[in-house]
Amino acid sequence: MHDVGTIEATDKPGFYRELFAQAEGLFHGERDAIANAANLSALIYGAVADLNWAGFYFLKRSDELVLGPFQGKVACVRIPVGKGVCGSAVAQRRSQLVPDVHAFPGHIACDAASRSELVVPLMRDDTVFGVLDLDSPLPGRFTAEDQAGFEALAALYVAASDL
Ligand code: SME
Repeated sequence: MHDVGTIEATDKPGFYRELFAQAEGLFHGERDAIANAANLSALIYGAVADLNWAGFYFLKRSDELVLGPFQGKVACVRIPVGKGVCGSAVAQRRSQLVPDVHAFPGHIACDAASRSELVVPLMRDDTVFGVLDLDSPLPGRFTAEDQAGFEALAALYVAASDL
């Protein structure tokens, strides 16, 4: 079993570099997409402050996301492409950084505690496989640095897993 250490960086870019290195260690020698998603959810939820949900939705067919491995409260299972923050990330093929979920038209409230959200599409070339979704109980929790950090983690996950 790979050991996950404490992250010591005090600045966000350094924090995400260490988190990335730990994810590389977790994925080493393992390409199962569900196992890697489960471990990445647990790594993120344990290491990143002020989250109430961290996990995956996968495109099982072209118009619908289905819940994958996650940490946090039980969540909505199916999200149509184009709906909510997750479905918008797939439809627009780009990350959605939402400082105030109450101001996002069509936001799907799985956990009423969520106040801000960051959703990163899982992409290889032009193919979208799903999303990595992070929720926070704090408004404005996610910055451009968080987005860059999670986009790098999502790219690593896609490269390291058989999707
Ligand atoms: N809020 C998301 C739904 C998923 S939950 O946050 C886990 C959305 O609007 O797509």
